[in-house]
Amino acid sequence: MAAKKRQAWGTKLGIIMAVAGSAVGLGNFLRFPVQAAQNGGGAFMIPYFVSLLLLGIPLMWIEWSLGRYGGGFEHGTAPGIFHTLWEKNRFIKYFGVIGIFGPLVIFIYYTYIESWTLAYSFFALTGKYAGATGQGQMQSFLNAFQGLEKNQFFDSLWIAYIFFLITFFLNITVIYYGIKGGIERFCKIAMPALFICGILLAVRVLTLGAPDPAKPDWNSLNGLGFLWNPDLSALKDPKVWLAAAGQIFFTLSVGIGVILTYASYLSKGDDVTLSGLTAVSTNEFAEVILGGSIVITAAFSFFGPIGAQEVAKSGAFNLGFVTMPLIFQNISFGAFFGFIWFLMLFLAGVTSSVSLAQPAVAFMEDEFDISRKRAVSILGIVCFILCQPAIFFLGRGVVDELDFWGGTFCLVLFATIETILFTWIFGIDKAWEEMHHGAELQIPKIYKFIMRYVTPVFLLVILCWYLFSSGIDMLIMKNVSPENKPFVLGTRIMLLAILIGLALAVKFAWRGKRRTK
Ligand code: ALA
Repeated sequence: MAAKKRQAWGTKLGIIMAVAGSAVGLGNFLRFPVQAAQNGGGAFMIPYFVSLLLLGIPLMWIEWSLGRYGGGFEHGTAPGIFHTLWEKNRFIKYFGVIGIFGPLVIFIYYTYIESWTLAYSFFALTGKYAGATGQGQMQSFLNAFQGLEKNQFFDSLWIAYIFFLITFFLNITVIYYGIKGGIERFCKIAMPALFICGILLAVRVLTLGAPDPAKPDWNSLNGLGFLWNPDLSALKDPKVWLAAAGQIFFTLSVGIGVILTYASYLSKGDDVTLSGLTAVSTNEFAEVILGGSIVITAAFSFFGPIGAQEVAKSGAFNLGFVTMPLIFQNISFGAFFGFIWFLMLFLAGVTSSVSLAQPAVAFMEDEFDISRKRAVSILGIVCFILCQPAIFFLGRGVVDELDFWGGTFCLVLFATIETILFTWIFGIDKAWEEMHHGAELQIPKIYKFIMRYVTPVFLLVILCWYLFSSGIDMLIMKNVSPENKPFVLGTRIMLLAILIGLALAVKFAWRGKRRTK
């Protein structure tokens, strides 16, 4: 194959910001506090940190190393990378398809949710949701905005659709300008900006005191206690452990396929160990320190322990789009804080979603020699079409279906395959050596054992659990209402078509070229 110059990162800070940008997302500020509040509060942090040490950090190192290794052979996505690791196996490249399929599926619904945050930042500034007072009205505001009902706030989906178009276009534009000129440049501005917003919000929430003088116990300090006081009995429940492991996957963006692609634009001598760990630490600061002090603490100060518990139970979206706007209505400079809350979510969302789209672009560029701009245009058209069911059939279980397969199941499956491939097939000694090329941090030796035995076993346990506890129920649509079944079935057909399409593309790419390692 004629050597074609692949794209590259401009600076080391650039790739760290981009990987951290991929990791820091809606999951840090909405999903994490809800998971913690629902799964034992402070006790949740024990399985959380165990999962971080045994799954998150090793997978981060594995993906950075695999990506850089594959990039050396001009492969930026899992089919090519897996093939170079295990050349003798004709089928392994097809398993790599999951590393393009998963992020693409997440991208399809993630961009739409991201567009709500842009819309709400606009609504905060213009006072659009100011007329909705009380939980019920704010919920109706959200429902009408999403097209789930018609009321005095919105009578159709068109405003949401316009914000979707803007968000989608922004994502495509960032990718269009490439790794250095688009993603790196955007993340270098967006990441510091989102941290400033997060710190401002955390300080504001922590200095709320007790907003209602009649209820002095409803204050931010007790709010922190509410989230962090451990309920150690929760540790006996395997679901808590699973929730913690799931959160680690989602928040770090590992097991998706995106870090492989980002790391493929490194050069052989670039460090991966310290950079990977820095990206993890940046994400954990955003998640545990910022994500852990904003929403639940604020909800506690305004609604008390029972109210906060109910809010946490109602899920991440309600917390973000119903409870938080209500809180902002009741604090001074609420419009400003509402604006920066949604702006922060938006920036966190875009830096994640561009990473989700990049594997498909890299696949077209690397395996079909399609130019970047052309690849981005193809991706834009295909994804635009694929996004439509998530927008128009939101209330029909489409997003939940996409999220289960793309955002939950495939992550664990992909992580299991890549870990076994790297530490068993490629071999832990070679893998260890590969990781330490140009390393600025020597990984503690114990990780050799962890990566070879503990991480794969942990992953296999989670995978079997998913298959038996939710996979079968999902397959038979146990929890889907009869009127939603055709929509869920339609989504499945769409997912299967994407999967088959990608597998055929791999077959075609490998047939069309003489493969060199
Ligand atoms: N890692 C991204 C998030 O936390 C996907 O939202």
